[in-house]
Amino acid sequence: MTRLKSAHGGNTREAAALMGLTADQLLDFSANINPLGMPESLKQAIVAQLACAERYPDVEYLQLHQALAAHHGVPAAWVLAGNGETESIFTLVQGLQPRRAMVVAPGFAEYRRALETVECAIDTFFLREEDGWQLTDRLLPALTAELDCLFLCTPNNPTGLLPDRALLTAIAERCRALNIALILDEAFLDFLPDEPGFIPQLAHSPHVWVLRSLTKFYAIPGLRLGYLLNSDEQAVARLRQRQMPWAINAFAALAGEVVLNDLAYQQATYRWLREEGARFYQALGEIAGLKVYPGRANYLFLRCERPDVELQYALLEKQILIRSCANYPGLDARYFRVAIRSREENQRLLTALRQALA
Ligand SMILES: Cc1ncc(COP(=O)(O)O)c(C=O)c1O
Repeated sequence: MTRLKSAHGGNTREAAALMGLTADQLLDFSANINPLGMPESLKQAIVAQLACAERYPDVEYLQLHQALAAHHGVPAAWVLAGNGETESIFTLVQGLQPRRAMVVAPGFAEYRRALETVECAIDTFFLREEDGWQLTDRLLPALTAELDCLFLCTPNNPTGLLPDRALLTAIAERCRALNIALILDEAFLDFLPDEPGFIPQLAHSPHVWVLRSLTKFYAIPGLRLGYLLNSDEQAVARLRQRQMPWAINAFAALAGEVVLNDLAYQQATYRWLREEGARFYQALGEIAGLKVYPGRANYLFLRCERPDVELQYALLEKQILIRSCANYPGLDARYFRVAIRSREENQRLLTALRQALA
């Protein structure tokens, strides 16, 4: 069970209050944020351009859209930035106005919340423990012409698992044949430098929408920046028309223009995740009573085999917050998600886990 009500990781306020602590006394493994912190290049740019807060941002965010588009090698008319990817999810759903949608469980909670704002009927496709929570071709026959859209998260949150590329192509083809808008959430794909994702195929797939977030990789969840991409320029233009003006603050817009050029930060992140991710995965797997899944992103999905241990609370007593997945549809109180953090921080969690499960 979890004693916390939050539907998201990162709610250190609630967890700290439960323990009589302040939020900064907790080591937070529940939000999946790059431990390298905000890029130095961005800090310097913000300080140098503090005065941009005194002006309205360009209401069309032309430079930002051009920077995002150049990064992916697509026309700027394919891109619409949002106040975090979460806002892009809501903008897209409100623009598409689906009557019937499918989401995958376990999955990110905001697709469902966005769909509820347009009173959309929601079908849930449940992943299975016996498949290791991996998406399989069982999904294909579940896609029918009654559906208007399908949300898929690649890699999925909370599992970190990436669907097989051939399967994703088959899903996209079936969606095209059935006139289903396929919405691919690639919020964590930047952490996988060898995975191109779906953007290179967008030109031939106007029924596919890709969602991206810069908040996790560049450690700016408080600044907020995400975007959507689609190759139907008129469809994107319609969403642009609907979006609240000045949705993105000037510093977030600046961030989009700066961070994508910070190759040194990107390389340092790849190096950290390659080395520390592998080490942490192996060490977690060696702890008796824990099963760790082979996630590809900057977090790992765990199952605790010890029903007698209230794991999240036991770690909170050591001032460590992990994400309980008990409130994800399709999961139960055995499941947890932990971010991959710095070596020292991961070491602290490993020690605390060994003690809690001893
Ligand atoms: C799978 C997934 N998509 C999208 C988001 C939203 O990211 P943003 O901070 O850009 O709104 C999150 C945040 O946790 C997420 O986990």
